[in-house]
Amino acid sequence: MRFLLLTAAAALLAAPAFASPAYAQDAAQDDFVVPPVVMSTEHPNEEAVEPYQQSNAHAGATPFEGTVMWEAFHGQEGVNRIVDAMVDRNIADPRIAGTFVGHDLVRIRRTLKEQFAYILGGPVDYTGRDMVSSHRDLGLQASDMGALVENLQIAMSEEGVAFAAQNRFLAKLAPMRRDVVVR
Ligand code: HEM
Repeated sequence: MRFLLLTAAAALLAAPAFASPAYAQDAAQDDFVVPPVVMSTEHPNEEAVEPYQQSNAHAGATPFEGTVMWEAFHGQEGVNRIVDAMVDRNIADPRIAGTFVGHDLVRIRRTLKEQFAYILGGPVDYTGRDMVSSHRDLGLQASDMGALVENLQIAMSEEGVAFAAQNRFLAKLAPMRRDVVVR
C-alpha cells in the first residue's frame, strides 16, 4: 500500500504542469480536447488513418504506357529524390507551408512517391486515398496549386528530367486541380 502511495506521489510530482487537475478543468471549460495520436501498425512512423479501400484508381490519372517516362525520371530513386525535394520546398515555401503544418509528412512523402511512380509507369501500386478525400478539408486555392507545381518543376529540373518529359507528367497532374482546389 505504502509503495502504491509513493508511486502515485512520484507520478504526480513528475507530471508536467499542463497535466495538473487545474489545467484539465480549464481545458474542459474551454472544450479543448486534443485527440490522441494513433500510430499506424502497417507503416512505421506514420499516423493511422481512417480505413479506406485501396485502389490505383485513387491516383487520379492513368499510367503512361511503356518505360520511357519511368526512365526519364530515373526510376524509383529519381522519383524519391524529386518528391523529397518538392516536399522540402513546400514546407519551406511561405505561400503554402502553413497548409502542411500538423499533417503527417512521412505519409505524404510515401504516398506521393507511390502516386508519381504509378503514373510514370513504374512497377508500383498507389495505396493512398483519392485526391478529393485527401484535400477536402484543406480549402486550397488555384494559387496554392500553382505554388506546388512550381516547386515540383524545380525538383524535376534539379533531377535532370528533360522538359518534354516534365510537361507530359504535368499534363497528367493538371486535371487533378478540380479535385484538390475549392476555388
Ligand atoms: C496535383 C496536385 C496534387 C497531388 C497529386 C497531391 C497528392 C497528394 C497525396 C498523394 C496525398 C496523400 C494522400 C493520403 O494520405 O492518402 C496528399 C495529401 C495532402 N496534400 Fe496534396 N496533392 C496535390 C496538391 C496539393 C496542394 C496544392 C497542396 C497544398 C498547397 C496539398 C497539400 C496536401 C496536404 C496538406 C495533404 C495531407 C492531408 C492529410 O493529412 O489528410 N496538396 N496530396
